[in-house]
Amino acid sequence: MTDTTNDILIDRTAGAVGFDGEIGSSMAEFSAEYMTYVEEHLDTDLGRVADRMLVLLRSMDQLHQGFVVSQLDHALQTATRAERDGADLDMIVASLCHDVGKTFSNMNHPAVAAEMLRPWVSDEAYWVVKYHQDFQGRHYYARIGMDPDLRLRHVDHPAYALGEKFADVWDQTAFDPDYDSESLEHFEPMVREVFGRTARRG
Ligand SMILES: [Fe+2]
Repeated sequence: MTDTTNDILIDRTAGAVGFDGEIGSSMAEFSAEYMTYVEEHLDTDLGRVADRMLVLLRSMDQLHQGFVVSQLDHALQTATRAERDGADLDMIVASLCHDVGKTFSNMNHPAVAAEMLRPWVSDEAYWVVKYHQDFQGRHYYARIGMDPDLRLRHVDHPAYALGEKFADVWDQTAFDPDYDSESLEHFEPMVREVFGRTARRG
């Protein structure tokens, strides 16, 4: 497992090594040949996505935000509960990664995580992550002056029941310091399988 940030972010082909033509200094000047060269490097870069996600998840061991368990522990508990409940691969990995947006900030973290997952997971897994806070609100929004029934705006969505199971059974329960979670290493092959898929655009 790659374990340093530099190992996943440094591109050792920096400087257009191997491209002999004119490049120009703005995108408007980039030739078709140069764009082909860039596209090949972008494809290669996609091979680092699983490693990047694993580094982000591991970094969440340092993120507590006032909770008794770390955000990594919370992620592992959520994914373990999903797996033990018979969730499919996409939902297990989505459960593991659903709060990864918190590595930047709590604001909009569901949408951030959902968009990171979107090219590689099912539409329903993407949707559940994107709106999971609306479902989570049932469990605590009333205590912070917010509407606890925000989930009802999604009641006609085909993944509504899955959103409820995710929030009510797997996510909101995953703050137990005594829960017997699987390790990140247990989930690593699943992360590599999902993020090793051909990425979908759009
Ligand atoms: Fe969560």
